[in-house]
Amino acid sequence: MDAFVIEGGARLEGRLRVKGSKNAALPLLAAALLTDEPVTLQDIPDLADIRNMLRLLEELGVELDGKPEDTDGDWDGTLTLRTSDEASSHARYEIVRTMRASICTLGPMLARRGEARISMPGGCAIGDRPVDIHLRGLRALGAEITLDGGDIVATAPGAGDRRRLRGGQVFLGGPSGPTVLGTANVMSAAALAEGATVIESAACEPEIVDLANLLNAMGARIEGAGSPRIRVTGVESLGAARHRVMPDRIEAGTLICAAAMTNGDLTLENCPLDALMAVSDRLAHVGVRVEAVGPASAIDPMRASVRVTCERTLRPVEITTQPHPGFPTDLQAQFMALLCLADGNSVITERIFPERFLHVAELSRMGAQLFRQGSTVVVTGVKELVGAPVMASDLRASAGLVLAGLAARGTTVVNRVYHLDRGYEKLEERLASVGARVSRVDAAKLDAAVRL
Ligand code: EPU
Repeated sequence: MDAFVIEGGARLEGRLRVKGSKNAALPLLAAALLTDEPVTLQDIPDLADIRNMLRLLEELGVELDGKPEDTDGDWDGTLTLRTSDEASSHARYEIVRTMRASICTLGPMLARRGEARISMPGGCAIGDRPVDIHLRGLRALGAEITLDGGDIVATAPGAGDRRRLRGGQVFLGGPSGPTVLGTANVMSAAALAEGATVIESAACEPEIVDLANLLNAMGARIEGAGSPRIRVTGVESLGAARHRVMPDRIEAGTLICAAAMTNGDLTLENCPLDALMAVSDRLAHVGVRVEAVGPASAIDPMRASVRVTCERTLRPVEITTQPHPGFPTDLQAQFMALLCLADGNSVITERIFPERFLHVAELSRMGAQLFRQGSTVVVTGVKELVGAPVMASDLRASAGLVLAGLAARGTTVVNRVYHLDRGYEKLEERLASVGARVSRVDAAKLDAAVRL
């Protein structure tokens, strides 16, 4: 198992390009199941979760042209997917347990094939993560759904080849707000349903807008994506399309924190500023400047070049995670690392995944002063963090620890970086290219070296 060894204290300076979004790419890839014509996606990040999704899609009869493993480590992120065989519609436990996002094949498969069988995702490190609202939404489109041997078995109304979902009124609100992948599933399914669908309390995340853009390019009729009410007029079939995945707002936010915590001066290209307004607002309060560069008329707010600099003293803030356009839960751990270095007390409340605090104990091992009560953590800023061996069994918690390591005095070893590799492509190489002293090592060898 790999680990990162980080010598803290190096200032980050230079330019980095933000990669395509993992959380946008996963449902975009699954959308290829909605047609037997080719769908070409550009700017797909090369991540463990993406490779798992590609493996699953191949099992479900999708041919892939331009896979990352077919190139010699220089994949350009472009892939053409074409469904050629609809015989197997079973997303098996062996794959689903490695990646919960496998659930986003459910809606497309059910809509196109009239049936789908998918292993029920279990809980994960950040909480229970039920899929009840996905199922409620698909039932509202006429699906019959049962549970068999740990699998969700879904069938569309009708018989034989004529099975087809029918449009309906779907309410997707839940106790923690709307569901992102649930909205992706229902919207994709409604695209091929008979008649019109209204999705109320839909997730407004920019990744949903990206998916709607692809589906519309394939011939779907979707309006209102990005707002809480999405209207879908079902069509008979969908066809070929080409689409560029939106940049990863969470990666962008993570890199901005890295620059701020090292008192750096970083320019990020391909930065989705427009999708980061709540984050920019908090950063401004902290004293981190994020400015678009270049002539105003040429700035694409979803693919801007931005310069990140910060004031000498970071100010404390209050942060509450919320569904978009609120502050994203996927940046909570990284901001906690940042606020450890602020001058005063910050308060962080987690409203999406109330147990998503795996980083708290590990950051404390680095000298952070954190007091957790339920879903709230009070962060008392400290003068410095101190390097330590740490580990977190969640992607974003691991990112928070890497940030802490970049700013800490001394050496930090972040263990089990396979969690990090699920969501950040070659993070150590890219951070090193802007001045970080970070390297990837085999943890077993590191242990042996420590024992000598
Ligand atoms: N929820 C339910 N029932 C459901 C579905 C969700 O109660 O049927 C609850 C969840 O337990 C949670 C809330 O609703 O409290 C929101 O969950 P959501 O369904 O929106 O999460 P998701 O779609 O499974 C995506 C991202 C997550 C991100 C969340 C919230 C992908 C692949 N995953 O998950 O990303 O945290 O939205 O923004 O898009 C990550 O990238 O590290 C990550 C975990």
